[in-house]
Amino acid sequence: MTSPTGVAAQHDDYVDFCKGIQRLSTIDLLRYKRGQMERRIRTFAERRGAAELPGYLQILRSQPEELEQFLDRVTINVSELWRNPEQWQLLERQIVPDLAQAGRIRALSAGCSYGAEAFTVAATCLTAAPRAKTTIAGVDIDRRMVERARQARFSASDARGAPREALDRWFTPRDDGGWDARPELRAICRFDVGDLLELRPREQAYDLVLCRNTVIYFTDDVRDDVHARLATALRPGGYLIVGATERVSDPAARGLELTRPFTYRKL
Ligand SMILES: C[S@@+](CC[C@H](N)C(=O)[O-])C[C@H]1O[C@@H](n2cnc3c(N)ncnc32)[C@H](O)[C@@H]1O
Repeated sequence: MTSPTGVAAQHDDYVDFCKGIQRLSTIDLLRYKRGQMERRIRTFAERRGAAELPGYLQILRSQPEELEQFLDRVTINVSELWRNPEQWQLLERQIVPDLAQAGRIRALSAGCSYGAEAFTVAATCLTAAPRAKTTIAGVDIDRRMVERARQARFSASDARGAPREALDRWFTPRDDGGWDARPELRAICRFDVGDLLELRPREQAYDLVLCRNTVIYFTDDVRDDVHARLATALRPGGYLIVGATERVSDPAARGLELTRPFTYRKL
């Protein structure tokens, strides 16, 4: 094929591979930053014994277990209870009490992975605003993570940064050193499979949205689009919390103001 400039267009095996993955899994890898995603995919494919992407796509088409492992690798499910403690202190001392004045807190954990963030929100809300009616929705594209989140089980490593007092109050210890969320937390958390790139939450559906360590993998345009839609889903006075290394670009255009580091308030 020849382009309008007369230069022969190079065949792009990465693009073909991503289109093939979208057909297999619905995940559109072309909307994630190419540099790091492509490196991760090629390294993983080589480790699995496939030197080239077309060959690896064939393997993924015919081996569902291999596809599961591949998706595990690319969606990056790392999380932790009370991840970034300074954010949770701010939530417990200021944001949750502020939101509780309305009598209810509807929270969304966008990119919830296996639920550590959602259960930390639940514990924080029940501690700081015990009388508010609190509900937490967790959404993640990775079905296996959503299934794990519904189990409400965490390892000792998941809990390594959690305040001991909060763990004792809201989780039950297991013999293997892990922790299970108590029924009070489970009762207010629910988890669904969903793609943040497609999700169109209702306007003002939430008082608190956490979207941390998830959009960092998206291209800048896709990230901005996701932030804009999450901002629309917040009621005036609600908060959007992003990850400790993230920011919303042009917050005013999305009706948000930066009130504290990584914390945006809907105007
Ligand atoms: C690094 S984890 C972040 C978990 C949690 N928010 C935290 O900060 O600890 C990123 C999660 O985003 C999810 N994810 C990636 N792309 C997504 C998409 N398009 N829609 C929904 N979730 C997505 C991944 O499956 C993964 O579980």
